[in-house]
Amino acid sequence: MKKLYGVIGDPIGHSMSPDMHNDSFSALQIDAHYQPFHIKSEDLKTAVAGMKAIGLSGFNVTVPHKTAIMPLLDEIDPLAQAIGAVNTVVREENRFIGYNTDGEGFVRGLNEEYGSSVLDKKIAIIGAGGAARAIYYTLSQQGSIRVDIANRTPEKAEELKNRCPYPVETVLLSLEELEKQLGHYDILIQTTSIGMSPKVSETPISVANIRPDAFVSDIIYNPAETMIMKEAKKQGARVQNGLKMFVYQGALAFEKWTGVLPDPKRMQKIVEDKLGGTSC
Ligand code: ATR
Repeated sequence: MKKLYGVIGDPIGHSMSPDMHNDSFSALQIDAHYQPFHIKSEDLKTAVAGMKAIGLSGFNVTVPHKTAIMPLLDEIDPLAQAIGAVNTVVREENRFIGYNTDGEGFVRGLNEEYGSSVLDKKIAIIGAGGAARAIYYTLSQQGSIRVDIANRTPEKAEELKNRCPYPVETVLLSLEELEKQLGHYDILIQTTSIGMSPKVSETPISVANIRPDAFVSDIIYNPAETMIMKEAKKQGARVQNGLKMFVYQGALAFEKWTGVLPDPKRMQKIVEDKLGGTSC
C-alpha cells in the first residue's frame, strides 16, 4: 500500500517540501506520497491524533508548530529536546518520534560548501533565535571547538550558551564587538531575518573587517544573495545562502523515514526551479 508522508504548518501553501520529496520518491521508485496539511494551532492535538489514526508514516513540522508539537509525541530525540524544536516526526510501530534535522542539515551543507569539516574552525553566529539554537547545539554536539555568539539582545545569547548541553568554548559578543573582531573568525553564520524582505538592503553587522579567506553562511535563501553575502564577497570572502540547509534538512528527514538518503543535488534543482518561478 502507498505510504503517506506530509508537512504540517500554518501557513503551508508555499512549502517547497512536497515537490522536493515527491520527486525523490519517484526517482527512487518508492511507493509513497508527501502531502502538505494546513493545521491551525488550535487543531494541532487533534491533527496529531488523526495522523496516527490514519497511519501516516512520518511528517515534517514547520512554523508555528515546531515546539508546540513536542508534548504530543511519544518520544523526542535528545538533540531535538536540547534544541527545543522538532521538524521531523518518524513513525515506529504506533509511536511518533520527534527529531530535529535543521541543525544537522545546516552543518552538512556548510561542510560541503566549505570543502572540509568546519569543526576545528573559529565560528561566529549572528542571532540567538530558534535557527541559531539548532545550529549552535548541533555544532557543539558534533565537536566544534569554538563557536561565539553575537546578538542584539545579550540575555538571549546568554541563555543559549547556558543551556547548551554539549561542551564548546563560547564567547558572547555585542553586534558592535563582532564587527570590530571579525578578523578573528574563519566562518560567520547569519541566522537573523535581516536580508530577507522587507530588509533586503540591510545587514545585521558591517563586514568591512572580514578576512578575505573567511566564509559567510547565511541561512536565508530568498533572496538568493543577501546584502551581507554581497558585502562579504566584495572583501574577497566566500559565501553561501541557506538553500543547502533547506535541502539537507529535507534529505535527512527522508533518510529517517525510508533508510535511503535521496540525491541532494536533485532536491536542490527542484527548489531552485520553484524559487526561480517566484517574483522574489
Ligand atoms: P528564528 O526562529 O527564525 O531564528 P527568532 O527566534 O525570532 O527567529 O530569532 C530572530 C533572531 O534575529 C534573534 O536573534 C533576533 O535578535 P533578538 O534576540 O535581539 O530579538 C534577531 N533579529 C531580528 N531582527 C533584528 C534586527 N533588526 N537587528 C538585530 N537582530 C535582529
